[in-house]
Amino acid sequence: MTISRLGQPNLGLGVGLRSVHFAHILEHWPKVDWFEVISENFMDSQGRPRYVLEQIAERYPIVMHGVSLSIGSTDPLNHDYLRRLKALARDVKPKWVSDHICWTGVAARNTHDLLPIPFTEETLCHVIERVRTVQDFMERPLILENPSSYVEFRGSTMSEWEFVTRLAEETKCGLLLDVNNVYVSGFNHDFDPEQFIKSIPQDRVVQFHLAGHTNYTTHLIDTHDGRVIDPVWELYPLAHRLTGGVSTLLEWDASIPPFPVLHEEVLKAKQFMKRHLPSAKTAKHVAVLTGAEKKGRSDHLGQTALPQPLHYVTADVE
Ligand SMILES: [Fe+2]
Repeated sequence: MTISRLGQPNLGLGVGLRSVHFAHILEHWPKVDWFEVISENFMDSQGRPRYVLEQIAERYPIVMHGVSLSIGSTDPLNHDYLRRLKALARDVKPKWVSDHICWTGVAARNTHDLLPIPFTEETLCHVIERVRTVQDFMERPLILENPSSYVEFRGSTMSEWEFVTRLAEETKCGLLLDVNNVYVSGFNHDFDPEQFIKSIPQDRVVQFHLAGHTNYTTHLIDTHDGRVIDPVWELYPLAHRLTGGVSTLLEWDASIPPFPVLHEEVLKAKQFMKRHLPSAKTAKHVAVLTGAEKKGRSDHLGQTALPQPLHYVTADVE
């Protein structure tokens, strides 16, 4: 294990922990490098999910990934949520705690969607202040992810990558670069995903996400219901090279396959690094990655009739 951004370790190749895989994991203890858990699925549970998580956390590095912080909302920060989040972090001892650069509700209503924010000076100041408040309360840096988006605001005065860069520089937060989200948003809003990846501050990136999406010809939707497509895999070595390599996680949240299939998918990262990185670097970077395995379905569900952007449901725990 090597140390990378913000002093955080490169955990290697991990997968999201989903309840459908609990039995497999507890029986086989697969050689997965690390797990990411959806914070909300464990915040209010003291039953079997917490018991399973405690067992898993004894054997694997854990990262907490939230979907309800709503850092971009105009609602006041939810301090009850923050208290529960901090309590979970105290118990689970994750390597870091992440969420998204988005808003998820207003007027005290949670939409369970990761909604886009306008990229303006006013919004930036608003989010900077809230990130600082959360970081002070949590007593740790936040790691924030670029979400997929399907609409843009006419009022935006800067690019998403400029917004992300200035947010990271002003708050000293870390970044979770979702490579699939960059590809999806780039297609939907006609920007070059490589420009996004090259433009953000590489020294703030502590984690990558990879995932599958659905192509509707005119637009892409971030459904997390299948394998990572090759154009997204082709972007991964670029992000890996620019950052020097950080913890990489595969998200698969609908039509979840058996654990070994899930694990096999994230291990493809090694193939793409070998294919695209100079041999010396490949050897160095691959050396920090250990092996692993898995299977499943997710704790935050996509809609089933027509694939839609992920709607995060936090009650699906066993
Ligand atoms: Fe993601």
